[in-house]
Amino acid sequence: MHQLSVKENPFSSRPGQYPPVLCGRDKEIEIWKQRLYHFDPSGNVVITGLHGLGKTSFLQNMRSVAQKEGWFWVGSDLSHAPPQNEEAMAQRFLSDLATSLKSFEERSGGNYFEILKNEYTQAPGLTVDKLKAVAQQIFTGLVEANYKGTVVAYDEAHLLNDCAIPGDNPLGMLVETIKALQTADTNRPVQLVLSGLPHLFNALTSGQSYTERMFHLIPFYRLSREDSEKALKIPFAHYQQLSRCPDGLLKNAVDWSEGYPCFIQFFGRELFQIMKRKAGSLDQVQFPSNAILDHLDGGSFSTRWNSLSKNDRSFLNTLIHAKQNESLEFSAEEISENAKHLDVEEIQLKLKRLYRKSIIYPSSPGHYAFAAPKTEMMAARRFENPTKFNILRWFKRNRMGPQKTA
Ligand SMILES: Nc1ncnc2c1ncn2[C@@H]1O[C@H](COP(=O)(O)OP(=O)(O)O)[C@@H](O)[C@H]1O
Ligand SMILES: [Mg+2]
Repeated sequence: MHQLSVKENPFSSRPGQYPPVLCGRDKEIEIWKQRLYHFDPSGNVVITGLHGLGKTSFLQNMRSVAQKEGWFWVGSDLSHAPPQNEEAMAQRFLSDLATSLKSFEERSGGNYFEILKNEYTQAPGLTVDKLKAVAQQIFTGLVEANYKGTVVAYDEAHLLNDCAIPGDNPLGMLVETIKALQTADTNRPVQLVLSGLPHLFNALTSGQSYTERMFHLIPFYRLSREDSEKALKIPFAHYQQLSRCPDGLLKNAVDWSEGYPCFIQFFGRELFQIMKRKAGSLDQVQFPSNAILDHLDGGSFSTRWNSLSKNDRSFLNTLIHAKQNESLEFSAEEISENAKHLDVEEIQLKLKRLYRKSIIYPSSPGHYAFAAPKTEMMAARRFENPTKFNILRWFKRNRMGPQKTA
């Protein structure tokens, strides 16, 4: 069959990969620019939202804006071996600082991490004091080297709290260190940017009223219909095939994506693939086909699914059927009403297990919510119980709307 001469699929193929166009985040970009132009010493940013809403991609954008504006950027994604205690967080920070310094200046060829660690070990005081002492020296050097300041940015920062050893507080230590640096001296500007699931903000503010004032919260919501359409159309238009992509099909893909950037990329990628196979035409294409939904199952959800034990899966099945479908949140008490074979304590333990496996997160006191969109649908497809759970009906009920649902 004739193949389209386009090799590269423009849509992003995995979480964290920068999209072909970053749609619908202009307001947030503007907020960030303002914070860089008019630096406020206690101005820090928290970005929250479900998985797949575009936080990591947005951080990449923030980073390039900050670097263009002359700011030094330090940080990483905490999902890889999240530090479980203050000391581990301090080491992680030193390692990230060493990595950024290395890319900034290759000249010494020395091991920056060893140098920083040495300074850290010799500095007096508690973890916060030691880290502050090292950071202060480096940040001063950076300002002397004409940087406007330093941005310390951590992605998936909720894990600092979720994975902490009981009694330890790596998230609090990080915030304390930045706060200490900010109050010590405004000539060495530093701002903290944290991104993560919605409960990150609660973790930051619980019990510490000052932290609320320290952060500017940027909650990420689904994209509007208009932005979703743009995010799908622009990459297609680039290849000038849009005229052959029926409007109905695009509308359908926008409906199915429900404004979630991860699904926009997924469906766009699938459609683009089909278009290539069909020599540039998307006429008569059935969307979404079972094959497309199967691919969706095999994507990011499969990693989380594979981490679940048989018991976890069985409880997830119970949860999906027992929770009040209309509501986004659920509590152990609510579930027990429809799952009489389990008592509330048992349900609480099982919910905690799903939380530890990143399937759900604590959305408000006593309540949980799914951490990634369409978890219910994807799990239900695996349980293959179409009589109890009708995917199309579920979609119709949860139709994409302008409501601000994280
Ligand atoms: N504003 C956007 N417009 C279009 N696609 C986006 C946008 N933001 C992110 N994406 C795409 O959505 C997917 C999920 O983004 P990601 O940044 O990994 O989300 P999160 O970090 O919130 O889980 C990626 O494939 C990314 O390319
Ligand atoms: Mg991410």
